[in-house]
Amino acid sequence: MTKIVNLSIAALLLAGGVYLYADDDKREEHEHHRSTVVAKPLTPQEKATTALYTKECGACHMAYQPQFLPKRSWDKTMKTLDNHFGTDASLDQSDHKSIQNYLASHASKNDQVVDVRGAVALRISETPYFVREHREVTKKMVTQPEVKSFANCNACHTQALKGSYREREIRIPNYGRWED
Ligand code: HEC
Ligand code: HEC
Repeated sequence: MTKIVNLSIAALLLAGGVYLYADDDKREEHEHHRSTVVAKPLTPQEKATTALYTKECGACHMAYQPQFLPKRSWDKTMKTLDNHFGTDASLDQSDHKSIQNYLASHASKNDQVVDVRGAVALRISETPYFVREHREVTKKMVTQPEVKSFANCNACHTQALKGSYREREIRIPNYGRWED
C-alpha cells in the first residue's frame, strides 16, 4: 500500500505522469494532492525527449511509464536492447543516451524491485507488485488474441497511454468492465 501511494505522489510531480489509485475510496485523498501540486511545465528539451521515448519505445508495444520500474531495471533493459525479448530494439548512440537518461530520471525510487525469480526485473508484469494487483485476472483473459500477454497493458487499461490505471477505466476484451 505505501509503495503505491509513494509511486502516485512521485508521479503527480510529473506532467503527464502516472495516476495510480489504490482503490476508489483513496481517490479523494489523491485528488487533493493533485489539486495542490502544480506540475512544472516541461521545457522544450524535456518535451522532445518524451516524444523520442514514445516513438522509439512505443513502436512495438505501448511506451511504458518509467515509474513502473527502478533505474537498475531500465539500465539492464538499455544494455540489452540488441536482444530485447527476442527482438532487436537497438538505438543510435545519441537516442540511446537521451532515453537512458529519461528513464533514469523518471524511474521508481524503489530500487528493490526484483522479478518473481529474484533477479533485477526487466518486466513490469513480473514484479511482485504487479503480480499481486493482477492475481484475480485469469489466464484466459490474458492469452486471448485481443490481449496476448500482460505486456499489452492498454488492451485492458483503456487510459494506459495517458498513464491512468484506475479500476473504473478497465475493460477486458470479451469480458467487459472489471467488477471487484
Ligand atoms: C522491435 C520491437 C520492440 C521495440 C522497439 C521495443 N520493444 Fe520492448 N518489448 C518487445 C517485445 C516483443 C516484448 C515482449 C512482449 C510480450 O511479452 O508480449 C517487449 C517487452 C518489454 C517490456 C516488458 C513488458 C512487461 O511484460 O512488463 C519492457 C519493460 C520493454 N519492452 C521496454 C522497452 C523499452 C524501454 C524500449 C525502448 C528502448 C522498448 N521496449 C522497445 C519489443 C520491442
Ligand atoms: C488482461 C487485462 C489486463 C492487462 C493486460 C493488464 N492489466 Fe493491469 N489490471 C487489470 C485488472 C482487471 C486490474 C484490477 C484487478 C483487481 O482489482 O483485482 C488491474 C490492476 C492494475 C493496477 C492497479 C490499479 C488500481 O487502481 O489498483 C495497475 C497499476 C495496473 N493494473 C497496471 C498494469 C500495467 C502497467 C500493465 C501492463 C504492463 C497491465 N496492468 C496489464 C487488468 C489488466
